[in-house]
Amino acid sequence: MTPILTVGAGRMGGATARGWLKAGAFAAADLAFRDPQPGLDAQAAVAKGALADPVDLTPFPTLLFAVKPQVWRAIAADLAHRLHPDAVVVSVVAGVRLAALKAAFQGRRVVRVMPTTGVAAAQGVASVYAEDADARARAHTLFDPIAVTVDLNEEGLMDAATAVSGSAPAYLYAFVEALEAAGAKAGLPPDESRALARATIASAAGLMQQTGEEPAELRRQVTSPGGVTQAALEVLMAPDTGFPHLLDQAVDAAIRRSRELGD
Ligand SMILES: NC(=O)c1ccc[n+]([C@@H]2O[C@H](COP(=O)([O-])OP(=O)(O)OC[C@H]3O[C@@H](n4cnc5c(N)ncnc54)[C@H](OP(=O)(O)O)[C@@H]3O)[C@@H](O)[C@H]2O)c1
Repeated sequence: MTPILTVGAGRMGGATARGWLKAGAFAAADLAFRDPQPGLDAQAAVAKGALADPVDLTPFPTLLFAVKPQVWRAIAADLAHRLHPDAVVVSVVAGVRLAALKAAFQGRRVVRVMPTTGVAAAQGVASVYAEDADARARAHTLFDPIAVTVDLNEEGLMDAATAVSGSAPAYLYAFVEALEAAGAKAGLPPDESRALARATIASAAGLMQQTGEEPAELRRQVTSPGGVTQAALEVLMAPDTGFPHLLDQAVDAAIRRSRELGD
C-alpha cells in the first residue's frame, strides 16, 4: 500500500504526513507529494527523503486526495488517466460524494475520510465511509496510527461528521478567542487573559479525555448552586440564545454547506 502519493500538500495533506512521521507509521521514503506550493509539513517530509512532484504516478497504490473542494474535479481529471488502475483513492475533500469521486477516478476504489487537524500530532479524529471493504481497510491503515477512527455506515452522515468533528477544532479556537477577548474587556491585561484562557481550556479538555467522565458531570462538579460559574452558565446555556441553540444552528449551517460543496 506504499508509497503514498498525497495530492494537495496544504494544511490537511501536510498534517497527515507530519502525524505519520511522528507516529512512525510510515517512513519519509514511503511518501510523495504533488502540489504547486507544498506547505511546511510536506517540505519537512521532503527534506527527510519524501519525493516531491513525481511525474510517473503508476508506482503509487494509494492516493491521499487533499485538495480544496472547489478545484477537485479538474485535478481528479488530470490524475485519473495517470494513476495505476488498481490505485485506491482516499479522499479527505469535504462534501464530495463517493459516486462522484468514483466516476472521476474512472471506477477505482474510493474511500472518504473526514479527519481533524489533530492528526498532525497523531491525536486526530477521523470519520470513514466506504462501500468497498479494501478501500475502507486502506483508510484505516492510513488513519488508525494518527487518529481515533469512526466508521460511518451511511454516506449522508459524512456531512454531520464534518460539522461535529472535521470543523469542530475551529469552533473551540473561536471559543478561546472570544474568552480571551472577554477577559481583556473585563480588565485583565491581554497577555494574562490569553495565558489564563488557553491553559484553562487545554487542561479542561485534557481532564475530559483522561477521566472519561461525561461533560455534563464534569460541568456539575465545577458549578456550585448559586455560585459564580452558575451565573455564567445561565447565559451560556440559555435555551433560546445559548450554546444548545447556537450549536444547532452552527451544525445545520455546516451540514448545508457540506451538501452544497458536494453538489
Ligand atoms: N483543514 C482542515 O481542518 C480540514 C479538515 C478536514 C478535511 N479537510 C479537507 O482537506 C482538503 C484540503 O484542505 P486544506 O485545509 O488542507 O487546504 P489547503 O491548505 O488550501 O491545501 C490544499 C492544497 O492543494 C494545493 N493545490 C492546488 N491545486 C493543486 C493541484 N493542481 N495539484 C496539487 N495540489 C494543488 C493548494 O495549493 P495552493 O495553495 O497553491 O492553491 C494547497 O496547497 C479540503 O478538501 C478540505 O475539505 C480539511
